[in-house]
Parts: sequence; C-alpha cells; structure tokens
Amino acid sequence: MGDIRDTLYPADFPGREDKIKYYEKVPSTMDIAREMAHAGCPHLTVVIADRQTKGRGRLKRTWESDQGGLYFTLVLRPRLAPMKSYIINFIASLVLAKLLRQKYDIPAGVKWPNDILVNGKKICGMLSEMEAETQQVRFINLGIGINVNNDPTAVEPKATSIKRIQGRGVLRKNLLADFLDIFGSRLDAMDSVASGDIISEWKQYTVTLNQRVRIVTTHEVSEGIAVDVDDNGALLLAQSDGTTKTIVYGDCFLL
Ligand code: BTN
Repeated sequence: MGDIRDTLYPADFPGREDKIKYYEKVPSTMDIAREMAHAGCPHLTVVIADRQTKGRGRLKRTWESDQGGLYFTLVLRPRLAPMKSYIINFIASLVLAKLLRQKYDIPAGVKWPNDILVNGKKICGMLSEMEAETQQVRFINLGIGINVNNDPTAVEPKATSIKRIQGRGVLRKNLLADFLDIFGSRLDAMDSVASGDIISEWKQYTVTLNQRVRIVTTHEVSEGIAVDVDDNGALLLAQSDGTTKTIVYGDCFLL
C-alpha cells in the first residue's frame, strides 16, 4: 500500500461523509447501529470500527476483530415486508463475492446462508438484526466482517484474508466504497427484480449445493446433501431417510 494510509474516516468516502460514522475501537458496531437506527438515522448509514472488543457472529459466536479487518454495520430501511427481509443478505453476499472476484481476482464463493469462502476458508461473515411492523420493516442492520489486511488464522485456522491470499495489503476504503455503490444500486432496483432471480444469480456463486453438509441451528443438528436453495432463501436438505428438510436459519458446515 506504500505510504497511502489505510483509513476509514468520513472524508475517505466523498459524497457519503454524512452517513459514515467511524470509531477507532468499540465493543460491536451492531450496538451503535441499533442506537442510531432507533434515533432515526437515514437508510445506508454505515457504522465502521477499526477494532471491536466484542465483535459478534451468528449463533452467539464471537467475531475476531483485529486491526486491519473491515468491520461495519449498515442501517437499511428497505420497503420490504419482514417475511422478505432474507433477500437483503443474499444481495449483500452476492455483491461482495462478485466484487472480490472482479476487482481483486479472488475466487470467492458464497456458502449458505451468507458466508463468503475462498478455497474453503472464510473471508467474510454477515449478521443481521431487524425490527419491523407487521407489514413493513422498520430497519435491518446488516453487520459485515471482512478479513482484509488482518491475519485471523492464529485464532481461526479455517479463515483467510485478502492480504494472505494476495501477499499484499489493499485499501479498505476502496473495497467498502465499491461495495456501498453496487449494493446501494441493487437495493434501489430491488422492487423490479423477483427474489427468485436474485437467488438464481446467488446460486451461480455458491459452494454449498450438491455437497454433504451439517446444519446447526439453535435447537438441532441435521446432516444430508444440500440439494437446493428455494426462492425464499431456505436450504433444502436431502436426508438419508429419503425426506427433504427445509431449513430457514442455521449454520452450514461442508463435510
Ligand atoms: C458470522 O459469520 O458469524 C457473522 C460475522 C459478522 C461480523 C460483523 S463485524 C461488523 C459487525 N459487528 C459485529 O459485532 N458483528 C458484525
């Protein structure tokens, strides 16, 4: 990166300064984003931290958040029924996997529901929280952790980072700015695209289908072949007793 500083200040995002909230160190960007959402912050507000002391993962895991990674939570206010909110995470993981491929030449794939893997190793995870009325989402806070210039492998042997793959660092602000541009446009266009079409596009990049997997939810563990992801974003698991289980939330381990 030479002498160009890898900063994530509002001034690093021309045109978006008002919506970028930068912190050097926080427990979790999710907590700050929730407060801001309750206080009425606008759609596509971005809460960024250089480090998190209590970074949260899905299913009550922690998320290692050392210096050099990209940790942010987006406050989103889409015109969506709560039942349809799953599509946001599919769009986000699709956009990021394509961006890593196209701009960084990294062979990224998506693992159900929203992880991004490179050669079987995790480079990005997503966590979302939502508040809604019966018919309308009030906000969805989408937290994204990307291993960029950090090296998570000492604590997470099954993880990787852009720097590990490429042998050199990249500017996090460029990655984030590109992601915000593309993701924001896709959200704007969401009304005119069927969710089945988004899931179909997502499936072109998935590493999950036709694999033997173990699915862990908060209350059970299932194994089988991941045969499809339906138009509602649920994973269809073919089990050894011949039945197919529809799984709407869980964590997926490739066996
Ligand atoms: C997972 O794969 O389990 C999800 C990881 C999500 C991590 C991000 S980092 C930014 C945001 N703040 C958090 O505390 N978690 C999310």
